[in-house]
Amino acid sequence: MTIKSILATLPSYPHHIMNVYSGTNSYDEFKHTFKALISSKNIVNGKEIELYEKLLEKTFKSKKICTFASGRMGFYTILKVMGIQKNDEIIIPSYTCVVVPNAIIYSEAKPIYCDINSFDFNVDTTKIEALITDNTKAIYAQHTFGQMCDIDAIKKIADKYNLPVIEDVALSLGAQHDKKYAGTIGDFGYFSTDRTKIINTSLGGFVSINNKKYINKFEEEYEKIGFLNEPFTKKLARTFLIDLVMMNPYMYWLGKFTNPVFRKLGFVKYFLDEKKHNKEEITEYPYPARFSNILAKVGISQIENLDKNLTQRRKIASYYNDIFKIYSDTYINDKRNVHIRYSFLIKNRDYWENYFSSKIDLSIWFKTIAAGKDEDYEDIHYRLGQNKESEFVTKHIFNLPTHQNITPKRIEKMLYELKNSGDIIRGEKTSF
Ligand SMILES: Cc1ncc(COP(=O)(O)O)c(C=O)c1O
Repeated sequence: MTIKSILATLPSYPHHIMNVYSGTNSYDEFKHTFKALISSKNIVNGKEIELYEKLLEKTFKSKKICTFASGRMGFYTILKVMGIQKNDEIIIPSYTCVVVPNAIIYSEAKPIYCDINSFDFNVDTTKIEALITDNTKAIYAQHTFGQMCDIDAIKKIADKYNLPVIEDVALSLGAQHDKKYAGTIGDFGYFSTDRTKIINTSLGGFVSINNKKYINKFEEEYEKIGFLNEPFTKKLARTFLIDLVMMNPYMYWLGKFTNPVFRKLGFVKYFLDEKKHNKEEITEYPYPARFSNILAKVGISQIENLDKNLTQRRKIASYYNDIFKIYSDTYINDKRNVHIRYSFLIKNRDYWENYFSSKIDLSIWFKTIAAGKDEDYEDIHYRLGQNKESEFVTKHIFNLPTHQNITPKRIEKMLYELKNSGDIIRGEKTSF
């Protein structure tokens, strides 16, 4: 290795690099969390949680919302409330995050993978019915990358077979269909609020219970769920503060290197159950667990600023779209999608990701089936080659961030180079 190549790996000079993290939070949120940590009062439980849940119910017009330490824990609780057990099957898209099949496997049930459309990355609803068996207990409606899936078609199939629908709104908080929010249309919907999502509470999630039939049962189950302990909760709040500083585009050139070190030292914490296919192996924190009081206050502020957040994202998506013209202007402005990222398919994806990396760390999402998993697919009951469109998309997906810390003008030249390269894949249905 030459000295030059060693030097190239070091964070040697201040450098503006945009990335996907922590781009929606305010200085006030930082100040409050810092003060609360110092005072060490009402960290785990307190009145902010109830205020946050009430605000969420009002904002999304939901009958009942319960908050969790992460979205996946909310999903696991939904399965529990539905009485899911051994040999039961849940139909999910194969283009998802590994924590989704994991929650099903932790319930001793089986994920059944449906293929997706390569134009909106959502489940191909024409392929669902063939997967229904006597063991099917629910259909999972994931709204991928801010674009709503065809929830009407899914509900029609679900009604025909008398199956509940669980919406996954981890990537689409705020999207609307027929004046209803994503997550309030199926029997249940769940959301994620981790540092890469539409709103950021470091880690976190919540469940909307939309079918009255399940509300009492959900409340009973929720009563049994505990909180993360105080030291762990403080670490998550500290992680929020450190990320806000170090993942800022002005600091990211350094933060990128300090983050793994801080992780090793235990200064920053994230949930790390992606690689665990047995719930008993999760020993560092309870799974499931409730959301904390200290971060609920951040959640309140994030929801109060949601309109501004979504408008800004739409503006950035529109900027990208003026260059690439993947979507129609109507589609960009349609409330059915919220532009968590601006996503499309390209050839030579790894080349382009690397090419952009001097100015923007794209950390492209979902580059494998059940993202977070890159081997031993039999652990999650997937057979490579099983769903061709999903596998095609994993190889060609390209997505650009849209949060408030993104200044797309800084990468304009690169965007035009990509556009003019001929590497953009325009399928029949790519243009809406
Ligand atoms: C599609 C999808 N569903 C569910 C989740 C789970 O959310 P959380 O990380 O809050 O558990 C994620 C996480 O990124 C996701 O991408």
